[in-house]
Amino acid sequence: MSHIVSYHVHGAIAEAVVDNPPVNATSASVRQGLAEAIRKAEADPEVRALVIRCAGKTFIAGADIKEFGKPMAEPQLPALLAMMDRATKPIVAALHGTVLGGGFEVALAAHYRVALPETRFGFPEVKLGIVPGAGGTQRTPRLAGLETTIKLTTEGGQIDVAKALASGLIDAIAEDGDLGLAALAYAEKLVVEGQGPRSAGTLPMPADDPALFEEARKALSRKMRGQSAPLKILDAIRLGYEMDFDAALLQEFALCRESIAGPQSKALRHMFAAEREVARIPGLPADTPTRLIERVGVIGLGAMGRGIVMAIVSAGLPVIAVGLDQEHVDAAMKAIGKMWSSSVAKGSMTQEAMDKRLALITTSDDMHDLAATQLVVEAVTEDMAVKKAVFATLGQVTQPDTILASNTSFLNIDMLAEASGRPEDVCGMHFFNPAHVMRLLENVRAAKTDRDVVATIMALGKRIGKLPVLSGVCDGFIVNRMLSKRSREAFFLVEEGASPAAVDRVLLSYGFPMGPFALGDLAGLDVQAAARKARAATATERELRADFVEQMVAEGRLGQKSGSGWYSYDENRKSGPNPQTDAMIAAHAERHGLKLREIGEEEILQRLLYAMVNEGAKLLSEGIAARADEIDVAMVNGLGWPSHSGGPMFWADQIGLDKVLAAIERFRAEQGDAYWTPAPLLVQYAGEGRGFTA
Ligand code: CAA
Repeated sequence: MSHIVSYHVHGAIAEAVVDNPPVNATSASVRQGLAEAIRKAEADPEVRALVIRCAGKTFIAGADIKEFGKPMAEPQLPALLAMMDRATKPIVAALHGTVLGGGFEVALAAHYRVALPETRFGFPEVKLGIVPGAGGTQRTPRLAGLETTIKLTTEGGQIDVAKALASGLIDAIAEDGDLGLAALAYAEKLVVEGQGPRSAGTLPMPADDPALFEEARKALSRKMRGQSAPLKILDAIRLGYEMDFDAALLQEFALCRESIAGPQSKALRHMFAAEREVARIPGLPADTPTRLIERVGVIGLGAMGRGIVMAIVSAGLPVIAVGLDQEHVDAAMKAIGKMWSSSVAKGSMTQEAMDKRLALITTSDDMHDLAATQLVVEAVTEDMAVKKAVFATLGQVTQPDTILASNTSFLNIDMLAEASGRPEDVCGMHFFNPAHVMRLLENVRAAKTDRDVVATIMALGKRIGKLPVLSGVCDGFIVNRMLSKRSREAFFLVEEGASPAAVDRVLLSYGFPMGPFALGDLAGLDVQAAARKARAATATERELRADFVEQMVAEGRLGQKSGSGWYSYDENRKSGPNPQTDAMIAAHAERHGLKLREIGEEEILQRLLYAMVNEGAKLLSEGIAARADEIDVAMVNGLGWPSHSGGPMFWADQIGLDKVLAAIERFRAEQGDAYWTPAPLLVQYAGEGRGFTA
C-alpha cells in the first residue's frame, strides 16, 4: 500500500487511513490507495467490513484543486465511488473536520457514516465555479431530499452534524471523541447484526418539485448574478429525474468536467489560490516573530471606529474604545448595542453572544487609558493635522512596543509615523465600511514599519476573521487608488453624454453589486465631495470641471440619506430616476460648451475597467502591491469586483495584455496623456506576451 493510504486489519474489520496533508485532498495517490484498500478488503475472507478514515485535521476536504485542468490519473473519483457502490462488504466512513466536495461524495458513497460532533459538511464546488462531479447531485437528494440538496450544492455553505443527522446524511455521532474506535465499533456492530452494504444509488429520488427548482433558479439568478455554476448544478440535480442513477452519474461528471474547463472556474480557482498566497509576504518568512496582542485600543468612535470595535470583540479580543468625550462614547455604545440587538432579533446572534461581546468593551474618553493595550487602531477624523496630533500623543501614552495603526483611507502614514516619534511601530490597518461585515483588511507597511509589526497585523487580521492584504503607502492604497480612476472615468463619461444610469447598468451586468453612481449615493455625496476637495490641489482642470457631486451637495442632495442624489429615493431607500440629475447634466454641458454623444456599452465598460487595470500595473511597478494577487483579492473583496472574472489583473490577462494596451492607446489618442498613458509594466508585459498573474 502507498504510505498515503495505509491499510490495517483489526479482527473482522479492515481500516484504510488516508494521510495526505494538509487537507487529505483526493489526489491520484489517495484515489489509488483507496481503490487498493477496497480490493484488498473484498478479497480477504477474514474481513467483513471496511472503515475509511483520515489522519490529520480533517476527513477529505475535496478534490485536489491543483490537479484541475491537468490530465487526471486513473482511477477518477466516480470510478472509485462506483467500486464502493458495488462492494459486497459494508463500508463505513469515519468523519471529522470539514467533509467537503469530493470528500463529501466519498462519504456519501460509503454505506454508513459516523462523525465526530464538530464535523462540518458541504459542497463548496459552486464557489469554484464547478458542478459536483462524483454523485453529489445524485446521492444527496436520495438521502436528504430536494430542498437540502439544492441549498447545499448551489449555495456552497456548510451544515453541522445535527443537521446532517436529521437530514439522513450521516448515521451516527461519535460522542466520546475517539473516532477510530467509534468507527470500528460501529462496523463490528453492523457485522454482528448482519447489516450488509447499501448504496444511496438504490434509493429512489424524492418526489419531483418543479416549483422548488424554479424558485431556486430565480433566487440564484439574483444572488449569484452572472455565475453559471449554480444553474448548471440545478440541471445536474434534475438528471436524477431524467435517467437512471448510473447514467445520471455519467452526465453529472460530464457537466463537472465542462465547468472545470470553463473561464469562470479558472477565475474562481485563481481567487482561491490568490487568497491563500497573499498571506505569504515576499521576504517575510512564515516564522517571523509576532508581538503578543491581548488587548486592543480603538480611538475615534465614528462609523468606522464602531465597526472596528465590533469586528475585534467578535473574535473574543478585549477592546478599549476611546471617544472624543463621554457624549461620543455613549452614542457609539448605543449604536453598537442597536446593531447587535437587531442581529439577536433576526436570530443571527444569541443574546448570550451579544452580552459576551459587550462585556469585552471598556470605554473611555481619555487616551491615557490606552496604556494597557498592545495595539491601537486610530479611526479619528480624516484630517492630517488631527491625526498627527493623535499619533504624537499615542507615541507618548502607550507602551514602547505598542503597535500604532491608522485606519486612514488615503493620508500618508509615513507622516503619522514620524509624528508618533517611533515610526517602526506604526502601520496602517484600513478596514472597509461596514468594518464588522467587510472581509477585506488593507494592512499598510510604511517606510519604517518593523517586520514583526507587519507579521503581527497580518496574523491579527486573520484572527479577527478578515482577509488581510498588504499594501505600501500611497494615496488611497490599493482599492481606493484604483477606484479613484474608475470614478474619474465615470464622471468624464457623464460629461461626454452617458447617463449615470447607463454607466451603472453596464457595471451591474458585468457583475458588480452596484455601479459608481449608486455607490456614490450610498456612501454619501458629501463624503465624496470631501475626498475630491482633499485631492483638489493635484487634480486636473477637467477633473475639477466635472464637479457634479459639489453641485449636488450645494443643493443639499447628499445621496440616499437625503432622499436625492444621482437617483431619487423613497422612504424605503428604493431608487428611481431623478429629473434633477438630468437637468444638472444638461445645464453643465451648456455652461461648459460640451457636446454630448451616444456612448456604447463596450466603451463604457472598457474605460471604467481598463483605467483600473492600468493603475494596477502602476501599483505593481511601484511595489505598492507585491503581486497581482494582492490587487485581485483586494478588488474582489473590497470593491465587489465579480470573483468569477478573477479580479482586474487576472481578467486583463485573459483578454490579453496586447489587446488591453491597444484599447488604452486608443483612449489616449481620444482623451489625452493625462489620463491614459499606459503603465510601463503593461507595455513591457504586453510586449513579452506574458500576463500579470502568470
Ligand atoms: N486542494 C488542494 N489544496 C487545498 C485544498 C484542496 N481542495 N483545500 C485546501 N488546500 C490547501 C490550501 O491551498 C492551503 O495550502 P497552503 O497552506 O499551501 O496555502 C492548505 O490546504 C490549508 O488550507 P487553508 O489555509 O484554507 O486552511 P483552513 O484550515 O483555513 O481551511 C478548508 C481548510 C476548510 C479545507 C479550506 O481549505 C477549504 O475550504 N478548502 C477548499 C475545499 C474545497 O473547495 N473542496 C472542493 C474541491 S472541488 C471538488 O471536490 C469537486 C470534485 O471532486 C471534482
